[in-house]
Amino acid sequence: MSGPVPESLGDMPPEEFRAHAREVADWIADYLAGVGELPVLPDIEPGWLRDRLPPAPPDHGDPMDRALADFRDLVVPATTHWNHPSFHAYFANTASGPGILGEMLAAALNTNAMVWRSSPAGTELEEHVADWVRQAVGLPHGFHGVINDTASSSSLYALAAAREALLPEARLHGLAGAPRGRVYASVEAHSSIEKAGITLGLGRTGVRRVETDDRFRMRPDALAAAIREDRAAGIRPLAVVATLGTTSTTSVDPVSAVADVAEAEGLWLHVDAAYAGPAAVVPELAHHFAGWERADTVVVNPHKWLFTPMDCSLLYSRDPERLRAAFSLTPEYLRTREQGVGTNLMDYGVSLGRRFRALKLWFVLRWFGVDGVARRIREHVRLSGVFADWIQAAPEWRVVAPHPFATVVFRWDPAGVSPDDADRLNAEALEALNRSGVAFLSHSRLHGRTVMRLSVGNLRTTEDHLRRTWDALQEAARTVLGT
Ligand SMILES: Cc1ncc(COP(=O)(O)O)c(C=O)c1O
Repeated sequence: MSGPVPESLGDMPPEEFRAHAREVADWIADYLAGVGELPVLPDIEPGWLRDRLPPAPPDHGDPMDRALADFRDLVVPATTHWNHPSFHAYFANTASGPGILGEMLAAALNTNAMVWRSSPAGTELEEHVADWVRQAVGLPHGFHGVINDTASSSSLYALAAAREALLPEARLHGLAGAPRGRVYASVEAHSSIEKAGITLGLGRTGVRRVETDDRFRMRPDALAAAIREDRAAGIRPLAVVATLGTTSTTSVDPVSAVADVAEAEGLWLHVDAAYAGPAAVVPELAHHFAGWERADTVVVNPHKWLFTPMDCSLLYSRDPERLRAAFSLTPEYLRTREQGVGTNLMDYGVSLGRRFRALKLWFVLRWFGVDGVARRIREHVRLSGVFADWIQAAPEWRVVAPHPFATVVFRWDPAGVSPDDADRLNAEALEALNRSGVAFLSHSRLHGRTVMRLSVGNLRTTEDHLRRTWDALQEAARTVLGT
């Protein structure tokens, strides 16, 4: 529906909104049904979109039709399609139908859960749905969950709580004059832990990287030795971060043994299960999570492997008072009658304004059910195993790390080629595949060597898609080798 933008000072008239909303809903349904036909990565260079947009905003409003046409003609062609069944880079995910519907309604309600009164529904649904996920993944009763934008924020808040617990003077006086604090995480831990160190005034060197074993898991003996060494040097150990599902290989730190060290040393234990956490719903995968119940804080990202649109990261804390101690600061205008009765979510992190992320997660859990989630994650694990078998069966290709979940890390070692040249060829083959638009995979480095990663996490991915990707990758490899 088109027409002149109304002269009145109000919002879009309801009938116009209704017509466009129907159009948008139809577009989304068609997009989700046909996204697999699009190139996963757009074949464009940086600047492509901005070169096509007017440099300044319109003085007078455009009809919505024109904005929607530009969305279709300019925005979509410049999009990397995370919802594509052959998106296997980073950690593949799905913005599912129920999740998208929740996101739409959250925008309509536009609530801001600063304090209970500013959004009773946003506050209570968040706590409630976080508790549903807690039950589904098997964390013990008592872990209290809140929803943040990303795992980077969740881990930052967890480590802020650790700093508050062990260096309480920092909240009032900052770190000047305080002993140097240190956090321990494996060499495979996510860069967000170091970013938290930077943000919390510990610095990058305030995060000590602990060696891993031959399966890329943190070595508890090396952790204990590092803590001993630091104490002897006058450094104040604060926290240990164990990762269940590391970014490069999805390795699983031995969290029980790490918890023993943290407990003996009186340190905070934070578990980063941002990627793998949802897999704890699957009974036969639950053993990977043994010991995480001993953590002080745990992060699980529904926007990674729980079919929830960006952004949605759950932060669980065994003692939520610790988080509140770090962050609670109530200006007069936010004091309400319900103080101390209703939860004020602003007390659990930096953000005052908090959008209604719980709605989409609630819809996801209601529509799929816990068993439906488990069956889908189990299928992703199976599919990734099929892909790993193809790699292992191919001469010159090998899987280079265990794949406990649904991400396979592998490398191509062409015969008669030096490891350095093989690094280059792996990178070139991957780039050729990605540029073809057939699939999108990402890379990593392991033991100083370039490796490829394929992550299965999209609900539309089938064995046929994987077969096409594998064929296209072998074709790309032959092309870069010139055979
Ligand atoms: C293990 C792990 N932790 C944390 C993160 C950061 O996630 P987010 O993008 O939600 O900050 C990632 C990202 O992939 C990750 O793999």
